[in-house]
Amino acid sequence: MIRWDIHGVPYSTIFNDKYFCTQNGYEESLYVSCQGNNLKQRFSELDPGIKGTFTIIETGFGTGLSFCCAWQLWQQWAPVSWMLQFISIELYPLSNDDLNRALSLWPPLLAYKQTLSAQYRPFSNGTKHFYFDNRRVHLTIVFDDVVAALKEIYQQGMVSCGADAWFLNGFSPFSNPRMWTAEVFKGMALLSRQGTTLATFTVAGFVRRGLEANGFVVERIPGYGKKKTVLIGSFSPSSIE
Ligand SMILES: C[S@@+](CC[C@H](N)C(=O)[O-])C[C@H]1O[C@@H](n2cnc3c(N)ncnc32)[C@H](O)[C@@H]1O
Repeated sequence: MIRWDIHGVPYSTIFNDKYFCTQNGYEESLYVSCQGNNLKQRFSELDPGIKGTFTIIETGFGTGLSFCCAWQLWQQWAPVSWMLQFISIELYPLSNDDLNRALSLWPPLLAYKQTLSAQYRPFSNGTKHFYFDNRRVHLTIVFDDVVAALKEIYQQGMVSCGADAWFLNGFSPFSNPRMWTAEVFKGMALLSRQGTTLATFTVAGFVRRGLEANGFVVERIPGYGKKKTVLIGSFSPSSIE
């Protein structure tokens, strides 16, 4: 299921696509997922006088790289009274060895890799919870197909007031259209509130239109590496005509 290219980057033999770019997956993830959702600024502006929860939902946990990037920023910028709730979805989980090998590419994430891989196990289905930093970081992985997983997150009431941000990370929409269907965008809308943001590496027209039809206002911004543009957006249900 997983192969490694000559640069040590993992790619999926099911989808014939890489988990992250060859140039620098760590910087790419920080740029697209984290900066695309303006996380550093939003984390640093959280009110230290209250106990709150910041919720990110991700489609495609993969190697855990995007999670580790968000976690690193959380440690650096968020007030200690807040909790990061990171919910991710994964149908084809990596083994612990593969996750370790992939995350070993990024020296700045060494401590996060060690802490994550001490708990991480791949499951064929079900919802699993992992807690880090004295429960200041709560990772939930729903091991299921994306549509069923979004339903599960909604029906179980895992997100009380709508997510704060989305990481859309499900391989190229051309190699994996199942991650980018109308059902997925509808599920996202149900789990969003006015102002929920999103970021993704894909700018495919049908993805933009699908998001827009479900209340997301999207725009293209300059991309990372070989990608000319990437997509960011925010939820504004009144934008639907
Ligand atoms: C580009 S990789 C994610 C990269 C990840 N964010 C990281 O930091 O390594 C896309 C992920 O989506 C998962 N995936 C593909 N199709 C899926 C589906 N239908 N439902 C849930 N997950 C799926 C793949 O197994 C893969 O791990």
